[in-house]
Amino acid sequence: MQALIDTIRRREARCGIIGLGYVGLPLALEFARAGFRTTGIDVDRRKVDDIRAGRSYIVDTRDEEIAEQVQAGRFTATDDFSVIADLDTVNICVPTPLRKTKDPDLTHVVSAVAEIRRYLRPGQLVILESTTYPGTTQEVVQPALEATGLQVGRDFLLAFSPERIDPGNAHFNTRNIPKVVGGVTAQCTEVAKTLYEQCVERVVTVSSPRVAEMVKLLENTFRSVNIGLVNEIALMSHALGIDVWEVIEAAKTKPFGFMAFYPGPGLGGHCIPIDPFYLSWKAKMNGFEPRFIELAGHINEGMPRFVVEKVTDALNRHRKSIRGSHIHILGVAYKAGVNDVRESPALNVMKILQDKGAILSFTDPYVPAIREEGLELDSLPLRNGALGEVDCVVVLTDHREFDYAAVARAARLVVDTRNALRDCRGDHIVRL
Ligand SMILES: NC(=O)c1ccc[n+]([C@@H]2O[C@H](COP(=O)([O-])OP(=O)(O)OC[C@H]3O[C@@H](n4cnc5c(N)ncnc54)[C@H](O)[C@@H]3O)[C@@H](O)[C@H]2O)c1
Repeated sequence: MQALIDTIRRREARCGIIGLGYVGLPLALEFARAGFRTTGIDVDRRKVDDIRAGRSYIVDTRDEEIAEQVQAGRFTATDDFSVIADLDTVNICVPTPLRKTKDPDLTHVVSAVAEIRRYLRPGQLVILESTTYPGTTQEVVQPALEATGLQVGRDFLLAFSPERIDPGNAHFNTRNIPKVVGGVTAQCTEVAKTLYEQCVERVVTVSSPRVAEMVKLLENTFRSVNIGLVNEIALMSHALGIDVWEVIEAAKTKPFGFMAFYPGPGLGGHCIPIDPFYLSWKAKMNGFEPRFIELAGHINEGMPRFVVEKVTDALNRHRKSIRGSHIHILGVAYKAGVNDVRESPALNVMKILQDKGAILSFTDPYVPAIREEGLELDSLPLRNGALGEVDCVVVLTDHREFDYAAVARAARLVVDTRNALRDCRGDHIVRL
């Protein structure tokens, strides 16, 4: 294995990334920038074509960043898995969604591993990065790869390293977010650490893949539970007639022992609404009934209905019903600054409003159209003047691109679920 470490240190290793989405594409670019010949493999032919043409499809990556590495011959993309035979390292960055029953759906991981297995050869390093329950690397990936007759630690190396990126975050990216690594053997950890050290500022090693898998789930469960807590505080404050936003602003002046989380229309994205259920599924399989995860999930999933209740009450004060009212939504992405609508609570809010008979329209500078959950809408350009003609404006995602002062001036009624209109005053503004 020393040979692989030396090849990596000389940056002569051939690196492969399976899954070129929000996680895999930035990682592939970091490897390429470090000088590795990097191959991205994706089943989505459009992504492969985009990369070959130097076109980006994710917000944090510019076209030029891809074009530069492609033209330099350091980065290529393909949908042909046979290239794996020529690779020294393979990182798996495929999706890990939930089934409708909230059980883990490892279909993508299993099929990526099946492809690696066809081409696995001695001396290769395989790293799983997809978020998953503790035990996946050793209970699912390792047996599948060892079915080739090759043995982990002796013939090939296997590790888990959770991806921690935060799309849309201007300060933290693949390079400067510390990377946690846990290998099946000490040598697996050592080689994986050496690989990441070439392009990530800090690598933190742990004793096993299981610990590394649990680290990621602790981080995301921490967020889900704290958002659930602050959402419940928001519901409580509503019942008590207290402005929850003012409470949080004052509470966060405490310099220790408090971390501000904010209420909102619910959880969104590919991580926080999903990952904790990977952990609770595994805990239940081992006879442990997790309570915080289920409770936070319950509260967070109830938030879209609470938003609809706020809209109903606000319209009611204007002697209007949801049925027949024109409601314009500002922002449908799951959070500000991204074009991702996966699990976005905005879709749930809009679906409920539509089912109740509202006439919907929306503006999102990042999302040109919505074609899911029975919604078929195109984003309209925001003409603040036109907002005066709708019955209610609902802010669901606080994109920076919106001029909230102008929205407050133009709209007859605004329901603000993100405190985006914090500097605006008026009886026509209803906050969560
Ligand atoms: N998006 C985030 O903010 C984020 C952050 C941290 C961790 N994660 C985790 O990283 C993993 C990937 O998430 P993502 O957001 O990058 O997903 P994504 O959907 O953006 O990208 C995944 C890519 O994998 C491809 N793919 C699916 N099955 C494949 C297969 N068998 N072979 C090759 N390619 C395949 C898809 O076509 C897609 O391009 C998930 O486990 C997720 O939980 C995501």
